[in-house]
Amino acid sequence: MGAKAGPPEVLGALAVLGLGAALLCLLWEAPWLTPWGQRHPQEGPAGSPGCGSSPAWEPLGGEVQWLWRNSCRLVLVESHPQDLPFAAGSPSAQPLAQAWLQLLDAAQESVHIASYYWSLTGQDIGVNDSSSQLGEALLQKLLQVLGRNVSLAVATSHPTLAKNSSDLRVLADRGAQVRSVPMGRLTGGVLHSKFWVVDGRHVYLGSANMDWRSLTQVKELGVVVHNCSHLARDLEKTFQTYWVLGAPRAVLPKHWPHNFSSHINHFQPLRARFDGVPTTAYFSASPPALCPHGRTRDLDALLAVMGAARRFLYVSVMDYFPTTRFSRPPRYWPVLDNALREAAFGRHVQVRLLVSCSLHTDPRMFPYLRSLQAFSNPAANVSVDVKVFIMPVGNHSNIPFSRMSHSKFMVTEKTAYIGTSNWSEDYFSSTSGVGLVASQRASGPRPRLSSVQEQLRQLFERDWSSRYAVGLDGQAQGQDCVWQG
Ligand SMILES: *[C@@H]1O[C@H](CO)[C@@H](O)[C@H](O)[C@H]1NC(C)=O
Ligand SMILES: *[C@@H]1O[C@H](CO)[C@@H](O)[C@H](O)[C@H]1NC(C)=O
Ligand SMILES: *[C@@H]1O[C@H](CO)[C@@H](O)[C@H](O)[C@H]1NC(C)=O
Ligand SMILES: *[C@@H]1O[C@H](CO)[C@@H](O)[C@H](O)[C@H]1NC(C)=O
Ligand SMILES: *[C@@H]1O[C@H](CO)[C@@H](O)[C@H](O)[C@H]1NC(C)=O
Ligand SMILES: *[C@@H]1O[C@H](CO)[C@@H](O)[C@H](O)[C@H]1NC(C)=O
Ligand SMILES: *[C@@H]1O[C@H](CO)[C@@H](O)[C@H](O)[C@H]1NC(C)=O
Ligand SMILES: *[C@@H]1O[C@H](CO)[C@@H](O)[C@H](O)[C@H]1NC(C)=O
Repeated sequence: MGAKAGPPEVLGALAVLGLGAALLCLLWEAPWLTPWGQRHPQEGPAGSPGCGSSPAWEPLGGEVQWLWRNSCRLVLVESHPQDLPFAAGSPSAQPLAQAWLQLLDAAQESVHIASYYWSLTGQDIGVNDSSSQLGEALLQKLLQVLGRNVSLAVATSHPTLAKNSSDLRVLADRGAQVRSVPMGRLTGGVLHSKFWVVDGRHVYLGSANMDWRSLTQVKELGVVVHNCSHLARDLEKTFQTYWVLGAPRAVLPKHWPHNFSSHINHFQPLRARFDGVPTTAYFSASPPALCPHGRTRDLDALLAVMGAARRFLYVSVMDYFPTTRFSRPPRYWPVLDNALREAAFGRHVQVRLLVSCSLHTDPRMFPYLRSLQAFSNPAANVSVDVKVFIMPVGNHSNIPFSRMSHSKFMVTEKTAYIGTSNWSEDYFSSTSGVGLVASQRASGPRPRLSSVQEQLRQLFERDWSSRYAVGLDGQAQGQDCVWQG
């Protein structure tokens, strides 16, 4: 690809000249715009919107800007809990608190936030600890944003985990709009999603709730995509599903109206240069009842990423249960477990699973982990390894529900998946979640930028080879996971 006027600029120029959506669509199919990977629009679900059927590029004005600027920038973010040092020189992502404050500083018009629950102050959970200060600063920043006449809309779960939190009342008093989505009544789950859409241009998505502990006491992983209105507007459609369900007396629609449909999905991901690097990306959502036409289901996204792995498949999740967790009686649900075994056995993919282990870990998880580990069979070239991540509690035992790895991501040699769901059935059938599936071509014009999947692999390997990751042999049956060392 030439370094100068690349196809996106050409497209932008054409669009500025006032050519119609049909021509844009035609050009979009041109081979030089898809220089890597394979595009199979015909694989889409029957009647899926796209070029040739309904106009996939309706809001032409917006698209033109995107094609012209081609300005998307993707940054991995994570929290670095206190007293969790990694070896010097270890890779790291941008600190989550910094990324959030930066997004709020950039906000000019609107901030839309979906979060399971809120507890940004120590007072919210009755804890007096200096590590709550970053969360309190974030709350102050949100108040400043409201003071700048930026609109703030919050979708959260009802009932909520943090019953004593005053954050949302304080924000509402200053003009924030807050809707609690009664997921229990609607789907039998909770609103467990965690993402932001800022100015319809920037997004955050990841494991962190709006909780001060997510900034200083819990290990989290997420992603920010800056200056990417195309992706941001697509994620906004998922925010809007929560927004309408949070209205008084709302019911689940049988069919979501056409304007909630997504044109960016597993079959037709966004294809663009992010920072010059050819990138594909799309968002998934769960549960299926909250997936309007064209939205890839979160479980299908996970299975697609797993199914495409050929060399390695690394997973970092908080909890791993091949069962239901909240429905009674519990059901066996081996969908993801089978997919891991299938990759290891059928394609000799190297599988690694890193699961959180903390004071609150349900010990009933261990038989499933041991079963997966037992599947490993070097003589048959089947490689499966399971470790638990145990974060030292140190002198932080005064803080409830902390000192755990809350991250939920997966990485293969091809693709990065960053999500919000634990791996058990409920998260894919009744509880809401979102995921970002992204893949970058390794060598862009700036080779020093490694692809998102390579960055995520490095973070996984850092955790996997750290002293906090312990093989199952080191784990006595029934033992809780409080670090004694
Ligand atoms: C919430 O507030 C009530 C009443 O003030 C108190 O009894 C309870 O312990 C608080 N819960 C938490 C988690 O702080
Ligand atoms: C919180 O703890 C600090 C000392 O660590 C103390 O000075 C302060 O008064 C405490 N605040 C409350 C509200 O208890
Ligand atoms: C605040 O924003 C609203 C809507 O964007 C606008 O109508 C109003 O004039 C703004 N007020 C100030 C003081 O900027
Ligand atoms: C987003 O774009 C604006 C202007 O187009 C630029 O000033 C800003 O630095 C960009 N943000 C990032 C993170 O690249
Ligand atoms: C679709 O249109 C309805 C009615 O105008 C609106 O309430 C809803 O927010 C829209 N949905 C999206 C995703 O924009
Ligand atoms: C084991 O699997 C790997 C990965 O597919 C492959 O490269 C290697 O040749 C296999 N070795 C044997 C002995 O089958
Ligand atoms: C907590 O432990 C860390 C080291 O693990 C130490 O640096 C810090 O001073 C301790 N804080 C208190 C209040 O004891
Ligand atoms: C899943 O994650 C949430 C927080 O993200 C946590 O509260 C819950 O206990 C986890 N475990 C299960 C099995 O649902």
